[in-house]
Amino acid sequence: MEAHLLEWLNLSVRWVHMITGVAWIGASFYFVWLENNLNRVNPKNGLAGDLWAIHGGGIYHLEKYKLAPPTMPDNLHWFKWEAYFTWLSGVALLCLVFYSNPTLYLLAPGSSLTGPEGVLLGIGSLFVGWFVYSFLCDSALGKRPALLGFILFVLIIGAAYGFSKVFSGRGAYLHVGAIIGTIMVGNVFRIIMPAQRALVAAIAENRTPDPALPAKGLLRSRHNNYFTLPVLFIMISNHFPSTYGSQYNWLILAGIAVLAVLVRHYFNTRHDSHKFAWTLPAAAVGMICLAYVTGPAPMSSAPEVAKAPGTIEYQPLPETALGGGAKPEAAKAAPAAEPAQASTPGPSFDKVHDVIQERCTVCHSAKPTSPLFSAAPAGVMFDTPEQIKLQAPRIQAQAVASQIMPLGNITQMTQQERDLIGAWIVQGAPTN
Ligand code: HEC
Repeated sequence: MEAHLLEWLNLSVRWVHMITGVAWIGASFYFVWLENNLNRVNPKNGLAGDLWAIHGGGIYHLEKYKLAPPTMPDNLHWFKWEAYFTWLSGVALLCLVFYSNPTLYLLAPGSSLTGPEGVLLGIGSLFVGWFVYSFLCDSALGKRPALLGFILFVLIIGAAYGFSKVFSGRGAYLHVGAIIGTIMVGNVFRIIMPAQRALVAAIAENRTPDPALPAKGLLRSRHNNYFTLPVLFIMISNHFPSTYGSQYNWLILAGIAVLAVLVRHYFNTRHDSHKFAWTLPAAAVGMICLAYVTGPAPMSSAPEVAKAPGTIEYQPLPETALGGGAKPEAAKAAPAAEPAQASTPGPSFDKVHDVIQERCTVCHSAKPTSPLFSAAPAGVMFDTPEQIKLQAPRIQAQAVASQIMPLGNITQMTQQERDLIGAWIVQGAPTN
């Protein structure tokens, strides 16, 4: 029952996170688009520009003031709660998923950190990230946007690398996303909102507003706009084990982040010039290159490459339990050594079945025995041979090519067992 309630709590918070996140990012896209598309030719007195648009069956006319309208409108709409609630629900999710059970989700199996240390590192990194970012923006670097962007990128990827040494792949990715998300909400809370309040106060008091603050707000809102796509990728990344499950997950994340920023840059510049038209096709080619370099060939031919950091030590089972074929190559050589298996080279299904029963079905069953789950996680069940065979490609991705499963290696699966399952899948996953 408790696991069931937790699942619905998770669902509800995740849903809030998604709804508010969509609203926030949608507003960011819209207002940056608006700013870029303003007609600035011969604006009316006091205006920076205006824009006509048609949407939802109606025609709109928007005007942007250079600084302040002559009088305050009765009803001025603000955009902040979507940002605040995205962050709050995100932190709630971090707590629910990662911090409530750090050894399962947050830490890499065999991590040098204890659970509480991992949680402290996670939470601490959010605040450190904001202060470092804010300090750099306000330093002399703030006047050199390209260099600032490059240094921020290196620092963020440095954080991803550091996390990948102690956190699970998903823990590492999600914390990079959380650092960037915290920087974004920090920009809203500490820079953009105060600038807007000062602007409104000046108008109300009939003073000339200081133009420096709104300019800073606009710049930070641009930063946020460039952050959106990398963060969005991180939020869906847990569907893609070839990214976060790789030993080079931090490098793959760096690649995807660059491509995401290129895509945003294309949309942010296409209205005034075609100078950056190349960024969109370049991002597409980049995706193809990433798909190629993360491909299974180099990784499965060298299992140690795919080994997650902090892998737990080998705990060899007796030779007999593994059919004498711990490594795929050894499995192919098995017939000569063990004539009894000559007709079916490679590990028998019985042994694979035993391993899955021992290491996976506590969670992946119609009725999980693990108290953590009330239903099979991700709907994946290994109760029958047919189910196991059907899921063979996913088993390969989660437990052989990477060591994402068992979660936190809580059931202490050994490398030999992974190799055994890999060899069985190479044989076409026979169940007889
Ligand atoms: C401690 C419980 C637990 C154990 C043990 C476990 N898993 Fe999982 N597994 C999960 C959870 C939780 C998810 C859902 C992950 C998520 O939230 O995306 C999952 C997801 C999966 C998925 C689906 C991933 C996808 O989206 O394609 C596969 C496949 C999988 N596990 C295979 C295995 C295999 C194989 C084993 C045994 C070697 C195993 N798991 C052991 C908890 C477990």
